[in-house]
Amino acid sequence: MLTNIFIFGLLFANTLAAPTTKDDDDKLIIDQDFFPNELAVYTGEHDIVSIMVPLNALNFEDDDDEDSDSDVVAFFVEADINNGVKDYKGLYMLKGGQAIKLLDQGTDAAAANDDTKTAYFSAPDGIYVYDGKKNTTEKYGTVTENLIGIAKENDTGVIYVLTKDNILYKVTEDGTKKEKVENVADAQEIVLDFNNNLYYYGSDKKPYVLNSGVKTAITGLPENPSSVKLIRPPFIIEDGVPFLVDDELYIIYANGTSETTDIKTQLKPTAYAPEATLIVYLSYNKKIYEYNILVLLLSEVLNQIKEYLDEKNDVIQSIATRARSDFRAGDMSKLSVGEKSNAI
Ligand SMILES: *[C@@H]1O[C@H](CO)[C@@H](O)[C@H](O)[C@H]1NC(C)=O
Ligand SMILES: *[C@@H]1O[C@H](CO)[C@@H](O)[C@H](O)[C@H]1NC(C)=O
Ligand SMILES: *[C@@H]1O[C@H](CO)[C@@H](O)[C@H](O)[C@H]1NC(C)=O
Repeated sequence: MLTNIFIFGLLFANTLAAPTTKDDDDKLIIDQDFFPNELAVYTGEHDIVSIMVPLNALNFEDDDDEDSDSDVVAFFVEADINNGVKDYKGLYMLKGGQAIKLLDQGTDAAAANDDTKTAYFSAPDGIYVYDGKKNTTEKYGTVTENLIGIAKENDTGVIYVLTKDNILYKVTEDGTKKEKVENVADAQEIVLDFNNNLYYYGSDKKPYVLNSGVKTAITGLPENPSSVKLIRPPFIIEDGVPFLVDDELYIIYANGTSETTDIKTQLKPTAYAPEATLIVYLSYNKKIYEYNILVLLLSEVLNQIKEYLDEKNDVIQSIATRARSDFRAGDMSKLSVGEKSNAI
């Protein structure tokens, strides 16, 4: 587990940190140096409040796929934030540096880790589905609630949606059946881990995990934080998800425990997408930044971090290998150096 935490730290931090030691206690700190212009892949007109990288055939295509290319597909949502309230300004697909608006008012995106080319979006009038084979975005099912969050289970038909009124629904049967999840009250954000455990927190900012309908409170976290955030997990964490408590990043687990990491945020990104693990997206100040770990490893430009990453090369390569074998249609090389190494 320590290795996982370490790698997670590696992804979120140190990749771009200045060569000087910033903190005596070796915390990895996300600060201004973390967001150099070279790594910005998109600049918006509003804050970016959500980024999602689908770990399915939208990104891991079969080799014989005709339109196979190396661009990572991500979905993101823009909003203006006024006193913590989001005024949604569009849901986009990001591919090869191009942002294509799919919905005027999408609020969040989700995808299963399967071999489909499908992504699901929450919106003020229900659920939408993006079909990557046809390049179409359509209304999905019969849900009409004003939704602010969505999560798709892997390998089941289950979709969870969160309403603006903080009610959690479990949606099945191709979007036509919805049931309120009764033992969840006042959920503010939802995230699934890779084993279909659902995490959420209420307005008191205390997180819970829901496993087959059984709710467990997460223990071991600081009391009375002023802000918290749930983050989709990198795939190397199976039974847990990252949880930011004020400036400290924790991993919270399906068994109700939590663990601190060595990551701290001096600046808070507005959105996080570490799910692809070797390529991480963070958003800050209306921009999306791309951190390609294998590129950073080879890059001569960022010499000060190359040395650091070189020492971790074995661990990184083993994760890359695992990535290749974990995904059925799995061509992780697409998410690795290849064509993208010239990018920096
Ligand atoms: C996909 O559809 C969008 C419109 O929703 C369009 O802007 C884009 O060019 C299309 N992409 C392809 C590859 O056809
Ligand atoms: C997700 O489901 C697919 C089958 O649809 C399976 O091949 C894959 O291993 C599952 N992924 C995870 C992370 O459980
Ligand atoms: C909880 O789960 C985590 C991750 O699977 C594991 O490392 C930890 O030992 C577990 N703790 C307990 C008390 O079972």
